[in-house]
Order: sequence, then C-alpha cells, then structure tokens
Amino acid sequence: MDKILEVSNLEVEFQLHRKKFKVVEDISFSVNMGETLGVVGESGSGKSITMLSIMGLLPWTARVTSGSVTFKGIDLLEDENITKVRGKDITMVFQDPMSSLNPSLKIKTQLTEVLIEHEKLSFNDAYSRSLQMLNLVGMADAKSVMERYPFELSGGMRQRVMIAMAMLCKPSLLIADEPTTSLDVTIQAQILELLRGLKEKFRTSVIFISHDMRIISEIADKVIVMYAGKIMEKSDRILFFKQPLHPYSKGLLMSVPDRKAGNSKRLYTIKGDPPNPTEFSKGCRFAPRCPYASKKCFEISPPLHQVKSSFVSCWLYSHERESVR
Ligand SMILES: Nc1ncnc2c1ncn2[C@@H]1O[C@H](COP(=O)(O)OP(=O)(O)O)[C@@H](O)[C@H]1O
Ligand SMILES: [Mg+2]
Repeated sequence: MDKILEVSNLEVEFQLHRKKFKVVEDISFSVNMGETLGVVGESGSGKSITMLSIMGLLPWTARVTSGSVTFKGIDLLEDENITKVRGKDITMVFQDPMSSLNPSLKIKTQLTEVLIEHEKLSFNDAYSRSLQMLNLVGMADAKSVMERYPFELSGGMRQRVMIAMAMLCKPSLLIADEPTTSLDVTIQAQILELLRGLKEKFRTSVIFISHDMRIISEIADKVIVMYAGKIMEKSDRILFFKQPLHPYSKGLLMSVPDRKAGNSKRLYTIKGDPPNPTEFSKGCRFAPRCPYASKKCFEISPPLHQVKSSFVSCWLYSHERESVR
C-alpha cells in the first residue's frame, strides 16, 4: 500500500513565561492511501497539537523540536512545503466549524474562494463546483445555503459546509479533529456516514480524532491511543478492539457506555486525571492511574515495543517484546 504520510519521533515544545515544556514526544505513525487512522485519548493527550504541527498551524508559543513529517515524500516541516498543500491536498475539519468559517461572508464566497485560490478557477466555475460539493455532502437546499451566512445555519449544516470546503480540491488527506463532538447523536451518525462515503468516493486518507472509542471502532482501519503526549498503543482496528493491550486502552474501552445495558449498569471510569505537561514524571505517565503499576513503572518510561502485531508502551508486556522501536 502507498504510504502518504509518515510522522517520525515528533516532539513539540511550548514556551510560556520563559518556561519550556514538551507536550508531545516520540510520536511516530504513518497513513496509507485510502486508509483511516483513528486517534483516541482523553482531552489534553496531545491529539490536536500533533495534528496542528503536521498542518504547520501550531500556536506561536509552540514549536517542533525534533522529528520529521513527510507527506508524499516532501518535508512538511518546511514552511514553503506545507503552505503549498494546506487547504488543497491536506485539509482539516475542526470540532467547532465557527472557528474556521468567516462569520461575515456568505457560504458561496467562502467555498468559491478555495477553488479560485488553489485551482485558479473563474467565479462561475468555482460556484458550480461548490454547489455540486454541497449537494454531495447531503446539504438540503444547497442553492439557498450558498446565499446564507454561517450564523443562519445549524451546527450540523455548518459541519457539512466545512466538510464540503475540505473536500473541494479532492485532498489526499483529511484530518478531522473531533468533527462530531459538538453535534447530537443523530447528526453525528449522519456526518460519520458522510465521511465514510466521501472517503470511498475520492480515496481520501483520513485521520480521525476522537475521545469516543465507539466512533473510532466504527470508522478507523487502524488506531493509535495517546496519553499525556505519548503513544501508548498502536494497532490494527480489529485486533485493537478484540484484544487491547495497554491498561489505558482497556480503561478507555471499559468506559464506553453499553447501549444494550441501558442506564442500569454503572459505568467504569479511569480514576484520577491526566497529568499536566509541566509535571510529566520520568516513568510511565499512566502509572499513577494504572491498576497494574509496579515500582519499575514509576521509575523508567517503557518504550513503544512490538507485541505480536501491535505496538504498546507498557512494562507488562516486556517479556513478550519482539523488537524495540
Ligand atoms: N496554546 C497552548 N498553550 C499552552 N499549552 C497548550 C496550548 N494548547 C494546548 N496546550 C497543552 O498541550 C497539551 C495537549 O493539548 P491538545 O493537543 O489540545 O490535547 P487534545 O487534543 O488531545 O485534547 C495539553 O496539556 C494542553 O494543555
Ligand atoms: Mg483536541
């Protein structure tokens, strides 16, 4: 399979009030053509920061301090390279569409601008392609939506506009950062179905970020689990949901509400909270919340190593280690 994105040993550091701290470390993964990578982890795990560094959109207080990001063989950490592909061949959809849509411009202006800028189309051609894309993302009454302002649309409609905008130039890679989190369950399901359909139609690779294991199980081909700025587990989707290895992954899976059990069953929750990046410990960062933690876990950080076909960062599996990376 063709690998289109490769991230190796990515590390991002913030500098606030002269204090430096790393928020993500040792992040390595790849995405193949047409594949969906699911990225899961509690809030604050470093999922968005990882994606923003790929897109060259980190806040000015943050910078990539080591590692590489290669897209179709080009180095995306070079400003001039990422600016060429961003919004065209790699696009991003965020949780809150209002943060990306311009509140004072009509939808037609915002959609056509993308094609006028990236594909140098005339307004009329850009308009018909935009209208076509709005229809394709299942927007009812697309013509009248083109004439409206973002505030005149519902949350679900705005997210459809964002997805249409992200798909206009038929990107090779779409990064969707919690795109359904602020939507209600029915709309959430529609948006997921839409993304699945678009991915098939255009063979777009997708990185889908969510803190919701159920969504990841529905959409991903492979999964990475992030915690406190590191990858805890990396696996094929089927294998992961059949046999999660890391205690953190198991905890996340046990926290998923069981629809069949209704409300009668009390939900498992992982005790405690994730650490703040300024207070990362030297051992395994999950150790303080881990029911299996031993003395070694608090002292030495476990490397991500291969166990059967998965990769896991946990000393519980050190005897099963096949190769370290
Ligand atoms: N602008 C910022 N300034 C300082 N710290 C930040 C900023 N943005 C994110 N962080 C910190 O970086 C860590 C990772 O954040 P983020 O990538 O947004 O997590 P996630 O997307 O997994 O919820 C968090 O601890 C967060 O507090
Ligand atoms: Mg986030």
